[in-house]
Amino acid sequence: MAFEKSILVTGGAGFIGSHVIRLLVNKYSTYRIVNLDLLTYAGNLENLSDIESADNYTFEKGDIVDTDFINLLFEKYAFDGVIHLAAESHVDRSIEDPMAFIKTNILGTVNLLNAARNSWKDFGGKRFYHVSTDEVYGSLGETGLFTEKTPYDPRSPYSSSKASSDHIVRAYYHTYGLPIVISNCSNNYGPNQFPEKLLPLFINNIKLEKQLPVYGDGKYTRDWLWVMDHATAIDVIYHDGKNGETYNIGGNNEWQNIDLIDVLCDIVDEELGREKGSSKKLIHFVKDRPGHDKRYAIDATKIKNELGWEPSIKSEEGLRLTVQWYLRNAEWMENVTSGSYQKYYDKMYAHRI
Ligand code: NAD
Ligand code: TYD
Repeated sequence: MAFEKSILVTGGAGFIGSHVIRLLVNKYSTYRIVNLDLLTYAGNLENLSDIESADNYTFEKGDIVDTDFINLLFEKYAFDGVIHLAAESHVDRSIEDPMAFIKTNILGTVNLLNAARNSWKDFGGKRFYHVSTDEVYGSLGETGLFTEKTPYDPRSPYSSSKASSDHIVRAYYHTYGLPIVISNCSNNYGPNQFPEKLLPLFINNIKLEKQLPVYGDGKYTRDWLWVMDHATAIDVIYHDGKNGETYNIGGNNEWQNIDLIDVLCDIVDEELGREKGSSKKLIHFVKDRPGHDKRYAIDATKIKNELGWEPSIKSEEGLRLTVQWYLRNAEWMENVTSGSYQKYYDKMYAHRI
């Protein structure tokens, strides 16, 4: 079958990438969607089992840091566009092993930019979309919001590796005219997230009646976005965003961690038929994350005004859907927490608890 467009999605077996792949494969039958993923601990093809045999979907296992492999992939599929999500994505892991983040998030991104630049003789109709995080802006105080003009001030090895890649992507626009677009998004939640991030970790711990390690005093604020809303924003930006521009994506949904965890505990108690208040007893305040950013919050006016995108799911509705998904997909959770997961997790948290 001849396809109208050929699009490379990197990191498509991960949390957000799997929702992006599903949306694109189902919505654009005339696009060939190629998912390139290394299948690290965070990548899981089970996330895509419902669309794996679609005619317009292809999976390629490989490393974005491998220059020869990436160049061959561009030759093989003649991509019109790249939606780049592959990354090392967890702040706690970046504190343990910064180099993995430098390699994948910075060198991997440069490899992809070079491949696009070299294979796209004519930039017409082409687009390189770099998916990034609001953590590049650093930490807010009690008030204020991150806008697209907020100066970068990353604090963790994760956020600084993402900030670095954002700068390099912009440099390829200014220096070579590569048609790029960037988005910086707040914390995502929903199905398929690896249980090292707050919500799936805590849902699983509650189910297993294990402690909930709340860092510091728990008074840290995040702006939570339903992951499928992020996927629709990515679709809109990929198609309608302007070259060289940045778009902030957020949920208008700020929560202090401890308040979110309280509501989460109540919802899990209800869903599991446990006595109200029983899960809250698992809350355990532990030593803080080093360099813990106090507050993230997004001003998403630009994407609303220019591209007409807004989040669709309200917070408590999304939290309940998230809890239900993890409880109903016990096999998914067992599969991703088998093998070395528990050993790694015990080591990671040993110095906090
Ligand atoms: P994730 O950790 O769930 O998935 C990352 C995927 O990338 C995995 O499938 C993994 O196998 C793959 N990958 C890692 N290294 C690779 C390599 N060297 N080559 C090829 N593939 C590799 O991450 P996520 O939460 O889905 O985040 C996706 C992107 O969105 C990241 O770039 C992240 O910085 C960004 N982002 C995430 C959030 C969030 O809340 N999770 C918010 C804003 C932005
Ligand atoms: P996380 O899901 O790791 O995302 P990020 O650090 O990228 O925002 O953490 C969300 C918030 O929850 C953050 O303030 C750290 C806190 N947190 C805990 O209190 N305990 C935990 O076990 C984890 C993983 C996170």
